[in-house]
Amino acid sequence: MGTNRLEGEMIDQENKMMAKFKKEREEKIGNITFTMIKPEAVVANNIGGILKMIEEGGFRIVAMKKVHLSKERASEFYAVHSERPFYGELVDYMCESPIIAAILEKDNAVLDFRTLIGATNPADAAEGTIRAEFAESLAKNAVHGSDSDENANIEADFHFSAEERF
Ligand code: CMP
Repeated sequence: MGTNRLEGEMIDQENKMMAKFKKEREEKIGNITFTMIKPEAVVANNIGGILKMIEEGGFRIVAMKKVHLSKERASEFYAVHSERPFYGELVDYMCESPIIAAILEKDNAVLDFRTLIGATNPADAAEGTIRAEFAESLAKNAVHGSDSDENANIEADFHFSAEERF
């Protein structure tokens, strides 16, 4: 019994170390981005359609979960926009219903994902992009995508521990 528990603890420790090394490697290479499928797209049953475009775009899903953000968590996530006039509306909207949060991996992930999702305002989004296909408006624009490697890592860490990435 005692030995089994010790073995279990050692394996657990090893898994945590491996996850930590993997996360550090991802950050060094800069090949990850972070995305959220936003409330209106989740409610409209567009999770599958959006994930299909993401996978067909060559991205690998490293981590993913469905989560209902609290007002505090949504405010913290979007704190960089706290001085903008739309901040309150953005925070309220992001905790209206659950979202999908995910870390995606690909060479040149941040820029390639921004190309795949299209312009922030769907009215300007190129044909064939996720926002052109699924977004309703500037505020309800279906998906979020990180704007830099640095923010990709901050946002990924906001939602996922090292042990949740595979
Ligand atoms: P996102 O990529 O998630 O980053 C910040 C979000 O704020 C952006 O997508 C838009 O959904 C939202 N946003 C940007 N500008 C406006 C605006 N003028 N009014 C409402 N929401 C906005």
